Amino acid sequence: MEIFRVNGGNRLEGSARVQGAKNSVLPIMAASLLARGTTVIHNCPRLSDVDAAIKILTHLGCGVAREGGSVIINSSSVTRHDIPHELMREMRSSVIFLGAVLARCGEAVMSMPGGCELGPRPVDLHLDAMRVLGAEITQDGGSISCRAARLKGRRVNLDFPSVGATENTMLCAVCCDGATVITNAAREPEIWDLQSYLARLGYQVHGAGTPAITVRGADVSGDTEHSVIPDRIAAATYLAAAACTGGDIELTGVTPGHLAAATDALSGMGCRVSGGHDSVRIDASGLRRAIRPIVTRPYPGFPTDAQPPIMAACLQAEGTTVFVENIFENRYRHTDEMKRLGADIRTEGRVAMVTGVKRLRGAPVVSTDLRGGASLVLAALMAEGVTEISGIRHIDRGYDDLAGALRSLGADISRTVTA
Ligand code: UD1
Repeated sequence: MEIFRVNGGNRLEGSARVQGAKNSVLPIMAASLLARGTTVIHNCPRLSDVDAAIKILTHLGCGVAREGGSVIINSSSVTRHDIPHELMREMRSSVIFLGAVLARCGEAVMSMPGGCELGPRPVDLHLDAMRVLGAEITQDGGSISCRAARLKGRRVNLDFPSVGATENTMLCAVCCDGATVITNAAREPEIWDLQSYLARLGYQVHGAGTPAITVRGADVSGDTEHSVIPDRIAAATYLAAAACTGGDIELTGVTPGHLAAATDALSGMGCRVSGGHDSVRIDASGLRRAIRPIVTRPYPGFPTDAQPPIMAACLQAEGTTVFVENIFENRYRHTDEMKRLGADIRTEGRVAMVTGVKRLRGAPVVSTDLRGGASLVLAALMAEGVTEISGIRHIDRGYDDLAGALRSLGADISRTVTA
């Protein structure tokens, strides 16, 4: 078993380049099925979720190769429309392949994602949207079969601005007859990145970043290259790491506008944050104090994925910070582990109250999920002594060498194998 071993107390300093966005590259890899040609995706992070998406594309008949920071996908020939359970289970967000496989093949068979570490993972919004576009759906045990003799563009209203359901609807809609208008669409920057990839392929998609996205169905095939946007959650994690350690770091390769919710929170805490064109600097050398309530909401609200890292930054801030988690039911599992380090956190349902403590002390902790795991690494950076973090496979899903990046900023962290 691999673990992270952190010897806390080092102040982070220096500069680091932020990886490409996990939540952009995964839907774009699914969308590459609709290129019917070669797609080169640049700025592709090295993540186990990307490896899982590569396995799915390969199973479906695509040729896939990695070259440095790029992934090359040839989808000229897609020979299957099913995704076996073992592959679905490797990646929580594999349901993102549903719309693209259905659009490309006229049918799609895959297992239900089921629950995950953050709570139940319903896909009702995805399936309702596919139905509106003309798919017949049957569910048998844990498996979903979608079939469509003809997909037709229509108005699809999402009851909640789900990121994945918006993406799946966009991917299915590009192959429909006529136009689809998605209302109450998610507005996350990764939706805009998916639109921009589809537009490069020649599809007509407009409105990403607003609640109404229009997609015109078309026959498109060709080769294209696309560079994914910077990962705003990884960036928020490194900024929070600097805040935890009273550090002073600069992140390059970021889009500062996408980080506003996190940087506002960190400024409120007393950190000095300044942004360049594609960089952001944080100086957290002053006293850190509790901040106004952090309430997670769909973009442009405070991102649920940044809740655990920002919580880590509050563990030693003066006063009490209230968190309200509105997106996922089970997103405070890291709090019990933080308490092992000496954190003062009370949770009740969707609310967590974090009161800053003077000292945290190293202890063995378990990473329970991707962002919760990263937040434990951050807590360990400021704890006295050694913290060993197990369950780091969760962290590998979304961070491209988290330990290496933190080490380059001065952290004492290593990845080691234990019995
Ligand atoms: C995406 C992100 C994830 C992020 C989340 C919210 C990717 C690969 N993952 O996940 O990192 O935390 O957005 O910003 O982009 N829901 C339903 N029915 C559905 C679909 C969703 O009830 O059919 C609910 C979910 O249970 C959840 C909420 O809607 O409570 C938000 O989920 P959604 O926006 O779909 O998240 P994902 O696309 O899975």
